[in-house]
Amino acid sequence: SWDMGHFAKETIESLKEQIGDKKAICALSGGVDSSVAAVLVHKAIGSNLTCVFVDHGLLRKNEGDEVEKNFKEKFNMNLIRVNAQDRFLEKLKGVTDPETKRKIIGEEFIRVFEEEKSKLGQIDYLVQGTIYPDVIESGTDKASVIKSHHNVGGLPEDVDFKLIEPLRPLFKDEVRKVGKELGISDEIVNRQPFPGPGLAIRVLGEVTEEKLNIVREADWIFREEIKNAGLQNDIWQYFAALPNIKSVGVMGDERTYSHTIALRAVNSSDGMTSDWARVPFEVLEKVSNKIVNNVDGVNRIVYDITSKPPSTIEWE
Ligand code: XMP
Repeated sequence: SWDMGHFAKETIESLKEQIGDKKAICALSGGVDSSVAAVLVHKAIGSNLTCVFVDHGLLRKNEGDEVEKNFKEKFNMNLIRVNAQDRFLEKLKGVTDPETKRKIIGEEFIRVFEEEKSKLGQIDYLVQGTIYPDVIESGTDKASVIKSHHNVGGLPEDVDFKLIEPLRPLFKDEVRKVGKELGISDEIVNRQPFPGPGLAIRVLGEVTEEKLNIVREADWIFREEIKNAGLQNDIWQYFAALPNIKSVGVMGDERTYSHTIALRAVNSSDGMTSDWARVPFEVLEKVSNKIVNNVDGVNRIVYDITSKPPSTIEWE
């Protein structure tokens, strides 16, 4: 679109002027907002921007590699990927309370980011993907009281750099248009929302590597089948969760006692309310068969048919 192409051009020009030959840093999550913000700033100042991608090991299947491929190879950005799964798992050991999990992940994220930043010398600017709805919502958002939404990218305020928030005037759909104008891949530009704490809040209760692997594989199958059915742009958010319930099943002549996977698919405009998506039974059937046949440790699949309210979209 002409408007957003124009916005991108003007923004890059004014960022060039504002930042000059100073250095900037950005926490890249692979989400739409931080990606578009990072690419805008990269177009303005090139290698004077360093992006730190903290891979907390709570991402969906292949996501970390895709982020690296897109930004390092395609855009030739200065990207540091920190593989920090062990650190996060260690901190999460024995923790079952959802809010505590969020808090731990948020704090550890900041710690890792700060460590990387301190290796880089003088940095004057911090790039953030804040968009207009974040500006209005912050402080008054009821959901943020109910669940502390640690957006990855929500960084400490006590720091000595100035904030750069090039997307502040934009709504989500406009951010996507700018992303397209900049040549960012469709997978990133049209990506469904994904919570900062990632799969840690989709494994109910204690997070272990084994449970993460189960939910990651099941989620991958669900997303693949939604794509195969051509529904990926018709459903706002869809994913698998691991409720931490074991139940009895039968496989061959063997009795099993294994995990249940819950499938969740919702339509929403802003995440504040949502309706469960009427995914066709044939698609659900395919997903169910594929998961029980391919993911070890799963013998039952359920589909979540509650709306928000009274349920939330995530299970934690
Ligand atoms: P709920 O579960 O509150 O989710 O209905 C509403 C939307 O917010 C996302 N969500 C989060 N995003 N950090 C985030 O960055 C979080 O801790 C978090 N919790 C929920 C959720 O995926 C949905 O899109």
